[in-house]
Amino acid sequence: MWSCSRAAATAGPSAGTGPATAPANAPSNAPASGTPAPGPRPRPSRDSLAKLRAMYVAQVTKQIAGHENEPADQVFKNVQVLKGITAAQLVQKMDKDFGEALGWSCTNCHRFAPQGNFASDTSTDKKRARFMITMMNDINRAQLPKLYPKDTPQVTCATCHRGYNEPPPGDYLAPERGKPGAPPVPPPAAKPPTR
Ligand code: HEC
Ligand code: HEC
Repeated sequence: MWSCSRAAATAGPSAGTGPATAPANAPSNAPASGTPAPGPRPRPSRDSLAKLRAMYVAQVTKQIAGHENEPADQVFKNVQVLKGITAAQLVQKMDKDFGEALGWSCTNCHRFAPQGNFASDTSTDKKRARFMITMMNDINRAQLPKLYPKDTPQVTCATCHRGYNEPPPGDYLAPERGKPGAPPVPPPAAKPPTR
């Protein structure tokens, strides 16, 4: 899967690694009728992805009602690396730090989200994401402090991913911010280190 989608990634977000199945209420910009064109399916827009995620955020928030401020690894079943945050913080992180940063819905990493199951590790991309968390923690907690012992800047998923599941390669100059096709202005926490 990596090889076939890599070439397309230079031209923009690739749908080659998208979900095998879309949730029943998939956004309407999926091919409405007729046979889907060969090759990558068009990606849902950022807005429709945000709406899809909001639905799942609401679903999970309802499930954990009354336990929002308890540790995430006690409220949920299969939290292995995101320790030291509350259940509510985990859900926010999933939406903003993960979903938005990668331009994905929850179902890309949680195949059984429509069934309310977020604990399953069936998805390869969920396992990749877990690796990425560990890699990012190493950069932030072990590597960057060597260079910036004080006010250590932090990388986030968005620092590299910039709204794409596959970060734009190094030889690809992103359109200037504010111009058509430009990446969105990242949230404050997503600023790359500037010093
Ligand atoms: C890029 C992949 C990715 C995306 C997108 C993503 N998640 Fe997750 N999610 C993970 C990983 C990885 C874990 C496990 C973290 C760990 O082990 O510490 C997780 C864990 C969870 C858990 C805990 C489940 C349990 O019982 O252990 C919930 C709930 C959850 N995610 C909800 C969501 C919601 C809601 C969305 C969309 C708003 C979402 N996730 C989007 C990767 C993702
Ligand atoms: C230091 C840069 C960097 C950071 C930080 C980073 N990633 Fe990645 N990530 C990458 C690169 C590079 C790839 C490989 C993409 C490819 O296949 O071309 C990747 C791949 C992935 C993939 C597999 C995507 C695919 O379609 O093959 C997932 C899922 C992912 N990252 C999630 C995350 C999450 C979640 C975070 C934050 C916890 C994160 N990443 C932080 C650089 C980064």
